[in-house]
Amino acid sequence: MTSPLRLGIAGLGTVGIGVVKIVQKHADLLAKRSGRPVAITAVSARDRMKNRDADLSAYRWEVDPMAVATADDVDVFIELVGGDTGIARDSIEAALRAGKDVVTANKALLAMHGQALAELAESLGRVIRFEAAVAGGIPVIKSMTESLAGNRITRVMGVMNGTCNYILTRMESAGLPYEAVFEEARQLGYLEADPTLDVGGIDAGHKLAILSSIAFGTQVSFDAVEIEGIERVSIDDIRRAADMGYRIKLLGVAQTTARGLEQRMSPCLVPADSPLGQLVGGTNMVVIEGDSVGQIVLRGAGAGEGPTASAVMSDIIEIARGVRLPVFGQPAETLVAAQPARTAVPAAYYMRLELQDKPGALAKVATVLGDAGISIDRMRQYGQHSPASVPVLVVTHKTTPEAIDFAIEALPRTGVLVSDPVELRIEEV
Ligand code: NAP
Ligand code: HSE
Repeated sequence: MTSPLRLGIAGLGTVGIGVVKIVQKHADLLAKRSGRPVAITAVSARDRMKNRDADLSAYRWEVDPMAVATADDVDVFIELVGGDTGIARDSIEAALRAGKDVVTANKALLAMHGQALAELAESLGRVIRFEAAVAGGIPVIKSMTESLAGNRITRVMGVMNGTCNYILTRMESAGLPYEAVFEEARQLGYLEADPTLDVGGIDAGHKLAILSSIAFGTQVSFDAVEIEGIERVSIDDIRRAADMGYRIKLLGVAQTTARGLEQRMSPCLVPADSPLGQLVGGTNMVVIEGDSVGQIVLRGAGAGEGPTASAVMSDIIEIARGVRLPVFGQPAETLVAAQPARTAVPAAYYMRLELQDKPGALAKVATVLGDAGISIDRMRQYGQHSPASVPVLVVTHKTTPEAIDFAIEALPRTGVLVSDPVELRIEEV
């Protein structure tokens, strides 16, 4: 009988326990599909006494993840601890040096140190697989590195943080302000230990940087992602955007232009009836555009025990089958340094202005937009909001971010605004 593929798992939290459960539940199925049995030999976490809702008695317990990473009876090291430094990185490097392949779900680590890890793994003839690192259960990494490998990718975009999508859709459906829904999300356990990773757009930015590298053959470049979180999205904007036929999403977009690689993660408007606009709750969606295939839309659970462990298992089976791919889909030494470019691709914009309700106010606004070279597509003025002030919505024709910045700076000088103007990009999807 073929020898089993022996797994060592560091991290027995949401994802780690999910992997243990699949290995136990589907032993026969995994053996048939992998061509050999898949067996866990050693595990590690911080607290051995914690109740983990799974029987771990058959596995050797190691206090130190490094012992799992370097154990003689481990073929594949599964890193599910998390964090972009410390034990996660150290144990992966130790495992590679000890001749193990590595599976991880750690998007932060790959976004920050992906190139160095890929170079190390490939120089040692080892693989690192990370399907679970982007969009949880959605098979986006394999889609890009395998199924779409014959395409020149032109654009990748998506909603890749379920917590932010939950907050934004819940604000709209319940009519609640950001702060109230943020608190709900915290109570439901949706937020990362450091919530700014979610609502600050950083977690989603990590994922976008990883996808960019695969899509465009560039070294992963998280520092070049323009990131804005959802903290400034108000219930007013969600309602007004809906009035104009849009929904607000924390949307990541990566594309190459003549100026370089644009990567941005920011709240954007998308048409309410588009696939991205229809995405509710904690679900993720990734849209990939290739020169031959056209547009592909992948949708599914972006987090949670089952979906994330499902993705980890797909990597384990790939290794068991003997499939050995470069970390980012092409040899790390062939990945070029990204030429980062600030967003310059023109787009339509949504603007919400709170104006003094007096003669000439609208004319002054129109003059500023005209001076900035911005053409108005649609404009809507609502009835008085508070004494003597009116909300005015503007949807522009396509214009540049530079022109919008110019207008946003000039608008307060009209003397007719009662609060800071709000502007959001409308992404074509
Ligand atoms: P988690 O529930 O917080 O679990 C982390 C595990 O790591 C725990 O078992 C913890 O031990 C263990 N650990 C922490 N520090 C350790 C140390 N120094 N030595 C040994 N063990 C240590 O995290 P998770 O949600 O499973 O996430 C794991 C990874 O998957 C992260 O990289 C995360 O970004 C990624 N990911 C998660 C999801 C998701 O839905 N949760 C989705 C996609 C990707 P104790 O249990 O003893 O505290
Ligand atoms: N915090 C992440 C999310 C978990 O909300 O999508 C999955 O990466």
